[in-house]
Amino acid sequence: MEFVTLNNGVEMPMVGFGTDAANDALSYGEVMDAAVQAGYRLFDTAAMYGNQSELGDFLVGSGLKRDDYFLTSKVAQKEQGYENTLQAFKNTTAALQTDHLDLYLVHWPKFDPFFETWRALEHLYKEGYVRAIGVSNFEAHHLDRLLTKATVMPVVDQIETHPYFNQHVLHGYLEELGIQHQAWSPLGRGAVLQDPVLAGIAERYGVSIAQVILRWQIQHNVAVIPKSGNPARMAQNLALDFQLTTTDMARIDALQRGERIMGAPDQNYTEDLW
Ligand code: A2P
Repeated sequence: MEFVTLNNGVEMPMVGFGTDAANDALSYGEVMDAAVQAGYRLFDTAAMYGNQSELGDFLVGSGLKRDDYFLTSKVAQKEQGYENTLQAFKNTTAALQTDHLDLYLVHWPKFDPFFETWRALEHLYKEGYVRAIGVSNFEAHHLDRLLTKATVMPVVDQIETHPYFNQHVLHGYLEELGIQHQAWSPLGRGAVLQDPVLAGIAERYGVSIAQVILRWQIQHNVAVIPKSGNPARMAQNLALDFQLTTTDMARIDALQRGERIMGAPDQNYTEDLW
């Protein structure tokens, strides 16, 4: 398993598991068990996924030691604010049945409240309740604004990233700031997985399109959290031990279309949004 060292020294697996994965034929515990068997040791959840209690039950019963896995959760829109965030942390850790998180993120950049949310995350970080703090769905202008007041640098920005929306400009800015780029929906949910250019590359390497996409992100130093409810695909998404050539990397870069799955973060300022 490949790790990246975050800007505060914490080590994070480059490939994690999106814990809102589902399979009609398997229970949640069976899906998660397959993920652990496949080898995942980073579990990404959020208050808004509504799965934290189930995930907590699973993790406690899994036989995994707490130090053996990396646990990420996120503050929901309606939990933002200083006191609200401290309470949200208590609720999240109670549901997950743990005393700490490895990474706690602001789920969406809702303007003024995120200063107070961030202050609460800094408090949790300084007190040792969370090993690292970061953001999600923040664009350059949100980061600039946050950094006018932040005393702790975010370690991660988790953003929608896949070949049709590759975030190369924001990626460069994150690199400048020393913030690790982590991709949500790295497989792009649907169309990208049928792309003929990717299909051609996959065929040449004898791997799947999903593996090409994930490998391309890792070679760009983008951490990924693919989700799958299918045990074979879960395992496939961790089997990334091959190297794409510079030419193939450039071919995949050229697939950029500016096509998002969800609306732009600034259009997402509603209470009930993740
Ligand atoms: P499934 O759960 O049936 O495997 P993302 O993480 O980008 O949001 O993508 C998740 C979607 O991609 C799910 O619908 C998942 O379906 C599908 N998926 C995950 N891994 C693979 C893979 N290796 N090959 C094809 N589809 C995949």
